[in-house]
Amino acid sequence: MAAIEARALCKAYRRPLRAPGLSGSVRHLLRPRHQDIVAVDHLDLSIEAGEAVCYVGPNGAGKSTTIKLLTGILRPTAGTVRVLGRDPHRQRVANARDIAATFGNRSQLNWDLPLGESLALLRDIYAVPQGRYRQHLRTCADILGIDAFLSAPVRQLSLGQRVRADLAAALVHDPKILYLDEPTVGLDIAVKERLRAFLRQLHRERGLTIPLTTHDLADIEDVCDRLVIIDQARLLYDGTLRQVRDRFARERVLRFVVRQPDRADPAGILAGCGPVRAAWEGDTLVVAFDRLAVESPAVTARVLRAMDVVDFHLADAGIADVVRRVYERRLDLAEEGGQP
Ligand SMILES: Nc1ncnc2c1ncn2[C@@H]1O[C@H](COP(=O)(O)OP(=O)(O)O)[C@@H](O)[C@H]1O
Ligand SMILES: [Mg+2]
Repeated sequence: MAAIEARALCKAYRRPLRAPGLSGSVRHLLRPRHQDIVAVDHLDLSIEAGEAVCYVGPNGAGKSTTIKLLTGILRPTAGTVRVLGRDPHRQRVANARDIAATFGNRSQLNWDLPLGESLALLRDIYAVPQGRYRQHLRTCADILGIDAFLSAPVRQLSLGQRVRADLAAALVHDPKILYLDEPTVGLDIAVKERLRAFLRQLHRERGLTIPLTTHDLADIEDVCDRLVIIDQARLLYDGTLRQVRDRFARERVLRFVVRQPDRADPAGILAGCGPVRAAWEGDTLVVAFDRLAVESPAVTARVLRAMDVVDFHLADAGIADVVRRVYERRLDLAEEGGQP
């Protein structure tokens, strides 16, 4: 059985429709009218234990709503969710023992206590064995660097420190699933890196199941092994990063900086390598090709033999490029060969 299973999951928010001004308010009182906003529309999703799944989509796509439905904070309008065999909304108390969630604006920490004491309080509430707790603190110190501000009251922490502290707090009770809603938003690069390293380690060493939403595309490749793209409440794509890479991110670009280039047509020296596109950009020979169809060492060997190369650079299209193309409607993942 999957750890998380959603079937035809729907959530509509009801918003009051009210004409402006006093007369509008009065009319609304007498005959209220509403508009339904569909935030999640027939979502089917199945996440196995130990998977790290990145949930991406533009603002308003329905990411946060989905996470709230999966954690049991919201009740579905229609459809079903099972998390570790339970209904997360109806069985919230039992569910809470097995999951953790960070939402940015909610915190389990006590704002008036020093961080260390606030964490110890959570340890006591959840009756976490001392050895386990120490080990958790050590990991949080090593990778997140929380030891630098354990004695500071939580309210005095910076945003980057708060996010790290929240994550440390969320994991005190050793949950099986960690939901993260936009965990890296607003953080500086160094803190983002720490956070991603921490998530990678939790995933690898503790086998934690991590559903996370983001619109920072760098989060995807660093943390996850599966990508789900949603737009306007609907699922657009669901597949492993490897599938996405091998299907949509196959272009490789090699750049050779050449001493005293003659800028002759490179077609001759690359003949026999397979289908490549080669062109000069100043003193740089740029060769682009499908990395599954053409062998990079063959291309490199020929160029090195024929020219005096002083520098060399390789770039592959990444998952972020693919997602960007989907957002810009330049790539339709479904039309490019259907579901994997
Ligand atoms: N509490 C709410 N009441 C009414 N509409 C909401 C509420 N929360 C979200 N929405 C609407 O639902 C849609 C999806 O929102 P959300 O799940 O927050 O998207 P995302 O996290 O992908 O940005 C948006 O149109 C948003 O305006
Ligand atoms: Mg959101």
